[in-house]
Formats: sequence, structure tokens, C-alpha cells
Amino acid sequence: MKKIIIEGNNELSGTINISGAKNSAVALIPAAILSDDIVTIYNVPNISDIDTLCEILVFLGAKIEKKESTLKIDARDIKNREISEENSKKLRASYYIMSALFGRFKEATMYFPGGCSIGPRPIDQTLKSYRSLGAYVTEEGSKYNIKTSAIKGGHVYLDMPSVGATVNTLLAAVKADGETIIENAAKEPEIVNIATFLNNMGAKIVGAGTSEIRIDGVSKLGKAVIEIIPDRIEAGTYLIAGALVGKNLKIDNIIPEHIDALISKLKEMGFKMEVGNDYVEISSIDELKPVRIKTLGYPGFATDLQQPIVTLLTQCSGKSYIDETIYETRYKNIPYLNEMGALIEIKDGQHFTISGPSDLIGKEVTATDLRAGASLVLAGLKAKGKTTINEVEHVLRGYENIVEKLSSVGAKITIMDDIN
Ligand code: EPU
Repeated sequence: MKKIIIEGNNELSGTINISGAKNSAVALIPAAILSDDIVTIYNVPNISDIDTLCEILVFLGAKIEKKESTLKIDARDIKNREISEENSKKLRASYYIMSALFGRFKEATMYFPGGCSIGPRPIDQTLKSYRSLGAYVTEEGSKYNIKTSAIKGGHVYLDMPSVGATVNTLLAAVKADGETIIENAAKEPEIVNIATFLNNMGAKIVGAGTSEIRIDGVSKLGKAVIEIIPDRIEAGTYLIAGALVGKNLKIDNIIPEHIDALISKLKEMGFKMEVGNDYVEISSIDELKPVRIKTLGYPGFATDLQQPIVTLLTQCSGKSYIDETIYETRYKNIPYLNEMGALIEIKDGQHFTISGPSDLIGKEVTATDLRAGASLVLAGLKAKGKTTINEVEHVLRGYENIVEKLSSVGAKITIMDDIN
């Protein structure tokens, strides 16, 4: 286990460069399974979720060449092997491999996927979509087998705009016979990135980024290159760091439009930012106005930034409110924030009231999941004294070089092995 130690209340200034998006990368790598040629993915973040996915692809027989942030994947010789329960549970995106294997071999066997513990995360919409494409799905405990003699284009109506189910349907249907329509599809920028990659391979997908996606199945997919879009959640996390303790902190290499909802909330709180074509610059201010935030699918306020922004809301003068509409228990950072001096009330698991401003004081806390860890790193940057964050493996799953990036702009932050 590793821990991060922060000596807080230091001004951050300079530039933080944002890496490629985790939630794109974890879908683009499995998508490589569908190509009958070598594919190249640029701007791949160096995070542990990517290492896990590459390990699974290599186990299946892919050859992967990694040079800095570029991955070349040759999946021509892969075999349709069963993914172990251990690897299936390491991350949510493991089920993208199941969909890609199904898309290529018309059969796949895998276990229920993992992911952060932030509430129930069923996969019923993905299973429904496989069935709409003609698959027989059998379930034995947490093990799934999906099989058909021919994948047929189908009509998939998602009960909610699920990112995972949208990606899985794209991967499963791209080589189907005939046309597939996904209605109520997720509109996240990562979906557009993935559809673009598949189209670059020769797929015929239109409508990605809207709630109706049409996939005209093709028989073969070939050589392609793709660049991963900047990580909007990493960008948002560092923008919040700048709001807490920044002095002209520049968050660079981003697509500001992807974090419009956050920028609007920061403006509502009173922040004045310089928003360029590919950067946002921010400084902390003295008086922050309280706000109400409701998490929604894109382009609404991202649930992945909910835990990070709760840390900032502890600094607003008055009561701020969060309505977390996506996950049932995405609040495991809150008890730790309260130990650090925050005044946050958890109403019913999805509604929180934050009273401020509070002086945050360094404490020993634990990262229970990825974004909870990010929230606590932000609290440590603002708090007076020393904050120790245990179990930061969760954070390293999604933030590339977080310690180096924050150190480079003036944070006093270190990471070490926890020998206890
Ligand atoms: N849902 C169902 N049934 C389904 C699918 C989803 O009920 O079959 C529900 C979920 O329980 C949840 C909501 O619908 O309440 C949204 O789930 P979605 O499928 O959109 O989420 P996901 O694909 O599992 C991705 C990201 C998450 C991010 C969400 C929402 C990846 C690998 N993960 O998850 O990212 O929170 O979309 O934007 O892309 C993170 O990065 O910290 C993270 C958790």
C-alpha cells in the first residue's frame, strides 16, 4: 500500500499539463481487439488501469509496443480466452474486452466487472443490448457467457444514458450484419473519441455525441490511429486545486468546452478565470458564494467531479447543496473531510449540505475510491499542517503522475510505501 503526504496551505502557480482521458483510453484499448491490423493510440495516460488492460490483452495474445504515451497494438493473433475473475474485477472497463471479444468471435466469457465502490453498478443495459443483437446470455454466479451464431443489427433503447452500455453496444455491434440503433445513448466526449477510432478502422458509426447513434455493421476493420482526448476529470480536479490555493495556475492541453459545467459553477462562486482555446487559468479568491450542484450525464455537471468539488464547497460562505443523481453512495470522502474540519451533512446518500467556510486541518485519512482520493488530496493542499492519505492506489488508477504534477507547481507532496 502507498500513502501520499501533503504539507498544506502552499500556493500553486505555474502550468499543469493534462494527460489523455482515462475513460477514453480504457475503451480504446479493448477496441483494438476488433481490428484485423495494427492500431496506434496516442496520448495514453500512464495509470494503473491501463497497465491492467494491457496485461489482459497480452494474456489474450496481443503484441503491445509502448513508447512514452503511444501504444501500438497488434491483436491479429489473439485467442478467445476466458478472462480470470481476478482481472475482471480489477476495473470497470474489463467488460469492454468482453464486448470486443464478442464482436470479433461471436462469443465471450467473463466475470462481473469491478470499479469503484460508489453504489450499485448493474450491467443489465449491456446484457439487454447483447440480447438485442441476437446473443444468448447465460449467467452462472458472477460469470457470463454471451454467444451467437451471427451478430445481427438491432434496436437498443437504453433505460438511462449509460456510458458503459453505449460503449459495449458500439463494440459488440460494429461488425454486426445490418444496422444497429442506440437510443438514449450517452453523449460523453469519450463516446465520440471511441466512435472516431472505430470509424478510423473502417466502421460506419454516425451520431456519436448525440442521444441516437446509428451503426451500420461492416465485415472487416483495419489499421487506424487515434489520439486520446484530454482527461476532463483530471483537468477539473486541478482547476479546483487552483480555486483552492492557486495563483495564476494554468491548466493546459485541455478542451475547455468539456468542463463548461464546472467553469460555470466556479463563475457562480465568484472566480474569474482566463479561458483560452486549450487552457484555463485560475487564482484563489477570498469570498466564495455558495452554490447548488446536481450531477448529470454530459453536458451536465460530471459525477466524477462531485467528490472533488465538495472539498471546494467547504470554503464557500453559507450553505451549498449537492444532488448526486448518478450514484447512491458516492460520498465516502465526506466523513474524512469532516474529520479535517468541514461541516458536511449527508442527508440520504445522494443529497449533501455543506456549510462553510471551514478551516481545514491536516489529518490522517484514507482514499476509499478514486475520486474520494482526489477530494482528499485537494483537502490536503488547502489544509493547515500535514495530511496523510492512505491507500492511494485508488488515486493512481486514474491520475497520471499526480505527485510530480502537483510538486512542479509548488505543492509539498510526497508518495511512499506504507510499511505498516
Ligand atoms: N446503470 C444501470 N444499469 C446499467 C448501466 C448503468 O442501472 O446497465 C446505472 C449505474 O448504476 C449508474 C448510472 O446508470 O447509476 C450510470 O452508469 P454508467 O453506465 O453511465 O457508468 P459507467 O459506464 O459504469 C462511466 C465511467 C465512470 C463515470 C460514469 C458516469 C468509465 C470506465 N467509467 O462509468 O467513471 O462515473 O461513466 O459518467 O468510463 C470515474 O472515472 O471515477 C468513474 C467512476
